[in-house]
Amino acid sequence: MQTRFTRLVGVEHPVMQGGMMWVGTADMAAAVSNAGGLGTITALTQPTPDDLRREIDRCRTLTDKPFAVNLTILPSVKPPPYAEYRRAIIDAGVSIVETAGSRPQEHVEDFKAHGVKVIHKCTSVRHAVSAQKMGVDAISIDGFECAGHPGEDDVPGLVLIPAAADRITIPMLASGGFGDGRGLVAALALGADGINMGTRFCATVEAPIHDAVKRLLVDNDERATNLIFRKFHNSARVAKSPVSDKVVEISAREGAVFADVQPLVSGAKGRVALETGDLEAGLIWAGQVQGLIHDIPTCRELITRIMRQADEITARLREHAA
Ligand SMILES: Cc1cc2nc3c(=O)[nH]c(=O)nc-3n(C[C@H](O)[C@H](O)[C@H](O)COP(=O)(O)O)c2cc1C
Repeated sequence: MQTRFTRLVGVEHPVMQGGMMWVGTADMAAAVSNAGGLGTITALTQPTPDDLRREIDRCRTLTDKPFAVNLTILPSVKPPPYAEYRRAIIDAGVSIVETAGSRPQEHVEDFKAHGVKVIHKCTSVRHAVSAQKMGVDAISIDGFECAGHPGEDDVPGLVLIPAAADRITIPMLASGGFGDGRGLVAALALGADGINMGTRFCATVEAPIHDAVKRLLVDNDERATNLIFRKFHNSARVAKSPVSDKVVEISAREGAVFADVQPLVSGAKGRVALETGDLEAGLIWAGQVQGLIHDIPTCRELITRIMRQADEITARLREHAA
């Protein structure tokens, strides 16, 4: 299946693995890319820009297929050295970047000046339109269903994707809530050129996370997420767990401020939960698509299955039309 997205980035299938903190290592990215999708290394998972350079080199030893690097720019009291991470990506000769988060302009300009293709991930039509004006090569639009930061507008993919498609002329990926071939065909019908997935790729053999977390994603249903940080205008969707339940409970208290939940939500604690499988150690980021996850395949099995399902559905739709 060739779309404007597969042609833009040179992959076999219109399926991308989005940046994922602590999960987007070279092993994850290479597994997706070797399966014909677009795998992504997450820059900030590497402690320093030099570590990122080494991780990119390591990915090249694991795959000869295209892969991307994600650079996420989030509001922070003590921001990481974004410009240095950006420099590491450019110097390493990476050809595709996924940017996400606020005020990407400076990064987009520099990537573009160095011939890097930029896929900008955002959660609203207005931000997609401004990224398109900025000159990015593709948009990834994340609906309210998604794991991570869905923004503050609460528009699900069924409306967000066609609304964006009406305004976006460059290739566009639909993101948030995708996990199978039905989703891929739906995304194409809504005007997208492919899908971006996060949660579904966490429940694969190659995802560098503990089996207990993978089993949690399989066991959970579509209701098993919590939307946290709404009060602090930085909404995030995470798996329902004792920790995220506690965050919801504390946040609901009169006069609660971010500092009240901060000890529970640090990235370092989330990393411990992912690595040890101790679900009470920290937050686990996951989306509503958990309701569509029933097994832990390899990335190749997953992508092959998605493409086969998509072919079967397309054939059935043709029969309906005949
Ligand atoms: C464990 C995990 C960590 C994530 N970390 C990031 C991140 O650091 N940067 C980012 O842009 N998106 C991040 N995301 C969001 C994904 O890239 C993707 O946009 C989202 O998962 C799509 O929704 P889905 O989970 O329903 O497929 C993360 C998602 C997960 C599941």
